[in-house]
Amino acid sequence: MKTFTLSKLMASAAICAVALTGAAYADPHPDAELIIEGELKLNVRAEAPAHLDGALPELYSGWLFRTDETRELQMDDFENPAMIAVEDGADLWETADGAAGQSCADCHGDASESMKGVRASMPKVNENGDLWSMEDYVNNCRTTRMEAEPYGWNSGDMRNMTSFISMQSRGMPVNVAIDGEAAPFWEKGKEMYYTRFGQLELSCANCHEDSWGMMIRADHLSQGQTNGFPTYRLKNAGMVSIHNRFRGCIRDTRAESFAIGSQEFRELELYVASRGNGLAVEGVAVRQ
Ligand code: HEC
Ligand code: HEC
Repeated sequence: MKTFTLSKLMASAAICAVALTGAAYADPHPDAELIIEGELKLNVRAEAPAHLDGALPELYSGWLFRTDETRELQMDDFENPAMIAVEDGADLWETADGAAGQSCADCHGDASESMKGVRASMPKVNENGDLWSMEDYVNNCRTTRMEAEPYGWNSGDMRNMTSFISMQSRGMPVNVAIDGEAAPFWEKGKEMYYTRFGQLELSCANCHEDSWGMMIRADHLSQGQTNGFPTYRLKNAGMVSIHNRFRGCIRDTRAESFAIGSQEFRELELYVASRGNGLAVEGVAVRQ
C-alpha cells in the first residue's frame, strides 16, 4: 500500500500520478461481507449507476475501506456505538413536545412502517419544489405541526432522530431521484463535486473518484459514499451528519466551507447520494 501525503497530492502533477497508480492499489477489502448479527446482509458493493458513465468501476461502501476492528463494530448491534443514538432517537419519537402537545408517534405511528424507505430517498424535492434533506422534513414537522422549536441541524437531538429514522431503511438500496424536478439541483451538486477548493485546489472527485484506495495520512481513501450516514466516528466519539462530513472534507483542502444546512450542501448531498444509488443504507455506520 502506497502512502501519499497531502502535500504530495497538492501538486497537480502528483494528482495524475495518484490517479494512475491509484488503480493498482485501489483495493477496498476484497471479500468482506457486512452481515449484521449473522442475519441481515447489507450490500456494500453495487453496480455503478449509468450517470457515472464509467467514472467508478463498481460502488464500494466506505465500510470496505476500514480496519477489521472498525468493520466488526458495525456487524454487532450490541457493539455498535451508534446504537445509543438510535435508542435516544426512539425515545424522542415517542415524546410529546411543543404547543400542540404531540409526539412524532401520534401522527406517524410505528416508525418501522411509516419511516421505512425514507432515508433511502433523501434528499428529495418536496411538494413546494424545494430540495429538502431529512433534517428539513423533521424540522418542518416540529415547527408547523407540533408547534415546537426546530432542532439545530447539528444538535444531538437531530442526530439521534435522523439515526433512528435511518435505521428504518437499513438494508434498502439508496435510491434518490435525479430526474424531473430534482434534475437542476442534481446538476448544481455535480458541478460542485468537480470544483477545486481551497489552497490545495482539490475537488471531491480528486480524492474520492481519482484516488480512492490510496492512503492519505493514516486514512484509507474511500469513494466518499453517504449510504452509511449518520455515522459514528471513532475519532469524534459521536454521530456525524452528512453535511458535517462535507464541511470537514472541504476544510481539509484549506478552503472556507459552506454552512451545514446550506442550499449548496443539500445539492451536493443529492449528487453524492446518487453516486451511491444501489448500495445498501447502513442505518448507522461506524467509521474511524
Ligand atoms: C400532526 C401530525 C405530525 C406530527 C406530530 C409529526 N409529523 Fe411528520 N409528517 C406529517 C405529515 C402529514 C407529513 C407529510 C405526509 C407524509 O409524508 O407522511 C409528514 C412528513 C414527515 C417526514 C417525511 C416523510 C417522507 O416520506 O417524505 C418525516 C421524515 C417526518 N414527517 C418526521 C417527523 C418527525 C421526526 C416528527 C416528530 C419530531 C414528526 N414527523 C411529527 C405529520 C406529522
Ligand atoms: C484531500 C482529499 C479529500 C477531499 C478533497 C475530499 N475528501 Fe471526503 N474524505 C477524505 C478522507 C481521507 C475521508 C475519510 C476516509 C474515507 O472514508 O475516504 C473522507 C471521507 C468522506 C466521506 C465519508 C465516507 C464514509 O463512508 O464514511 C464522505 C461522504 C466524503 N468524504 C465526501 C466528500 C465530498 C462530498 C467532498 C467534496 C466537497 C470530499 N469528500 C472531499 C478525503 C477527502
